[in-house]
Amino acid sequence: MSRHTLPEAVLVLVAIFGWLWPVQARTDKNKAPVSEDSQTCIGCHSQVTPGIVASWRRSMHAHVTPLQAMKKDEMHGGLTSRDVPVSMQGHVVGCAECHTLNPKAHSDTFEHNGFQVHVVVTPKDCATCHKKEVDQFENSVMAKAYVDLMGNPTYTKLVSSVNGMQHWDKGKLTQGTPKNATNEGACLQCHGTKVTVVGTSHRETDMGDMDFPKLTGWPNAGVGRINPDGSTGSCTACHTRHSFSVSEARSPEACERCHKGPDVPAYKVYTVSKHGALYKAHHHDWHMGELPWVAGRDFDAPTCATCHMSGVLDTQGKVLATRTHDVGSRLDTRIFGLPYSHPQPVVADTSRVKNKAGLYLITNLDGTPVKDAVIGRQERKKRRKRMQATCLACHSQSWVQGHFKNLDHMDNWADKMVKTGTTMIAHAWKTGVASPENPFDEYIEKLWVESWLFYANSVRFAAAMAGADYGVFAHGAWYLSRTITQIRDFLDILEQDRARHIGKVISH
Ligand code: HEC
Ligand code: HEC
Ligand code: HEC
Ligand code: HEC
Ligand code: HEC
Ligand code: HEC
Ligand code: HEC
Ligand code: HEC
Repeated sequence: MSRHTLPEAVLVLVAIFGWLWPVQARTDKNKAPVSEDSQTCIGCHSQVTPGIVASWRRSMHAHVTPLQAMKKDEMHGGLTSRDVPVSMQGHVVGCAECHTLNPKAHSDTFEHNGFQVHVVVTPKDCATCHKKEVDQFENSVMAKAYVDLMGNPTYTKLVSSVNGMQHWDKGKLTQGTPKNATNEGACLQCHGTKVTVVGTSHRETDMGDMDFPKLTGWPNAGVGRINPDGSTGSCTACHTRHSFSVSEARSPEACERCHKGPDVPAYKVYTVSKHGALYKAHHHDWHMGELPWVAGRDFDAPTCATCHMSGVLDTQGKVLATRTHDVGSRLDTRIFGLPYSHPQPVVADTSRVKNKAGLYLITNLDGTPVKDAVIGRQERKKRRKRMQATCLACHSQSWVQGHFKNLDHMDNWADKMVKTGTTMIAHAWKTGVASPENPFDEYIEKLWVESWLFYANSVRFAAAMAGADYGVFAHGAWYLSRTITQIRDFLDILEQDRARHIGKVISH
């Protein structure tokens, strides 16, 4: 039985005993046992961290055993790992099942009331039961968000030009290298930190003195986090602990935290789109936790997840899209321009791709992509088709084709505008009025960064996700054109200044 087809009578009872529903109904249905180890954890933790225990009780993990889940097919929420250890199959997934997995692999394992516990439960741990989701996620740029930024010698200059402390001394402005702690409090909140164990601390607790590991880069739920067992990423970026819920991950708010902008404005664009308006007006009537998720029955406009990740069926039961945790697999273009849009990269770790100008960027300064670093025409076609398959549940082909034609046009338009700005910056570097040593730290360079990072990106995102307001006067085309004019004017000033300076030197 799908969760959707609960008998009407049950729904009426739920309405009457609504306040009892979250815990009562699901437990009664399953009566699934909790392991002895987890009962011991809960014995203390319902007092030390009652909030954690309450969220866990609401989760599917507290109500379904791996054995029960392995009997369902994938579209109905079944487990994608078939080799869950037999000793774990017969009881629900409690505290001990997650926090004591793979103890040897974890440098954060500590002795805790007779158990070998670790704090940071990682994708590798989740893979014990959710292997397919983990493999897909590990292949995506999200899992590489730390290394794509901090392993790229050009981007670390961008990091420094934002986070490095500025000093004004004897009439000169300098900018230092940022401290780890500053990066962790800024870029790495979303990209993910490197979590390392730096010792042990002895603490007094309500239940006596205990030892705990001391972690740096923690707490953090960035998508590309480097974990103490060597794995990358954090599933809690979208499935917040300890409810680990599908309905949360399907809500646009799950993505808002990181995709809001001004550099990455997907969420803002969505909120001013028709789709966003429909979500706002109607989502209380939608079935956000339903598996499988049926367009036209459970929802009638898409959220971020619908287009980018979800398994979606039509009302006849036909599969329109299969679920994926590889967020690049439905994208043919990377519209987030660095500085230009380009076909998606072949591999998610792009930190060592170098362009003709010697910069670690995947596009050359003229806008062409670096050879062999991006996917080819056939693969692009396949991915675009995957994205369009969901649209067709609610739109006709001509509507969808018209949309993508507009997207391609606006991508191209924004790229040509960026090229004008980039040509002026390359000229400034060549004539020596600006220095390419750090391409992002001088005033004229910061104008250039804004032109592509904020404004050209907004134009492209607005076209991709149909939120026009954000792409024109609010944050797009107007500011892009204005910034390019500013670059021109400032270039004039720098060149006049240099001419005067040379004049002075000659007349001496
Ligand atoms: C005797 C009581 C007791 C038992 C049993 C117990 N815990 Fe704890 N646990 C605590 C206390 C107290 C803390 C400290 C809370 C604080 O820092 O305020 C704690 C902290 C933790 C932390 C956080 C550590 C940190 O530094 O961030 C984790 C994770 C944890 N426990 C998991 C478990 C798991 C899993 C089990 C069962 C296998 C378990 N605990 C069993 C009492 C207990
Ligand atoms: C970028 C956000 C995001 C991240 C990060 C993420 N997920 Fe998900 N996850 C989703 C969405 C959205 C869905 C719902 C998919 C659907 O509608 O079919 C989902 C669904 C699931 C499901 C439910 C599948 C089922 O059959 O019931 C599992 C299990 C899951 N994710 C595990 C993971 C694991 C493990 C990780 C870490 C490797 C992870 N997720 C990381 C967004 C995310
Ligand atoms: C499905 C696996 C899973 C289960 C079950 C689980 N946890 Fe966790 N727990 C996690 C993950 C993942 C994190 C780390 C969150 C992150 O990466 O952002 C975490 C973090 C924690 C922390 C540290 C967070 C903080 O705010 O201090 C404590 C304490 C904890 N869990 C206790 C528990 C207790 C108690 C239970 C049982 C009621 C439990 N966990 C059940 C996966 C699990
Ligand atoms: C010991 C096995 C096991 C481990 C380890 C485990 N899970 Fe699960 N997970 C399950 C089972 C069983 C279900 C219930 C599936 C069903 O019946 O729909 C589930 C369901 C889920 C769902 C879907 C919830 C919903 O609302 O439908 C998500 C998301 C999820 N798990 C994420 C995680 C993440 C993230 C981790 C690691 C931090 C993790 N799980 C670790 C067994 C496990
Ligand atoms: C914790 C922050 C965070 C959350 C939450 C998050 N993302 Fe992301 N996402 C990122 C980062 C960072 C990247 C880029 C990584 C890189 O390029 O190395 C990314 C990349 C992506 C990409 C890939 C872009 C490409 O061109 O390949 C898509 C699509 C995406 N996210 C969609 C989503 C959706 C949908 C959600 C919500 C369900 C979501 N994200 C939630 C941080 C996040
Ligand atoms: C609020 C969350 C957030 C913060 C904070 C953040 N980023 Fe990002 N970053 C993202 C997202 C989301 C993406 C993916 C954008 C996309 O593909 O649409 C991304 C992608 C990137 C990329 C592209 C990586 C690649 O794959 O080539 C670079 C470079 C980058 N960010 C630089 C930075 C720098 C520098 C900082 C700090 C000064 C920073 N980011 C802070 C969310 C964030
Ligand atoms: C109607 C479907 C749809 C919805 C809803 C949607 N997107 Fe998109 N998204 C797209 C399309 C189409 C593209 C561009 C695909 C391409 O060019 O290959 C895109 C591109 C992206 C990118 C890629 C940027 C890059 O680096 O190339 C990210 C990140 C993203 N969307 C995140 C989100 C988030 C977050 C939400 C919700 C707030 C969302 N999307 C809602 C269809 C959608
Ligand atoms: C679950 C149904 C559903 C899906 C899936 C869906 N849409 Fe829509 N979309 C709608 C509805 C309903 C409207 C509102 C139509 C109107 O203007 O009256 C809409 C509106 C639009 C608009 C008009 C925006 C405007 O401001 O005028 C565009 C463009 C669009 N969708 C493109 C897409 C694309 C492209 C996809 C797939 C990537 C997609 N949609 C997927 C239901 C959906």
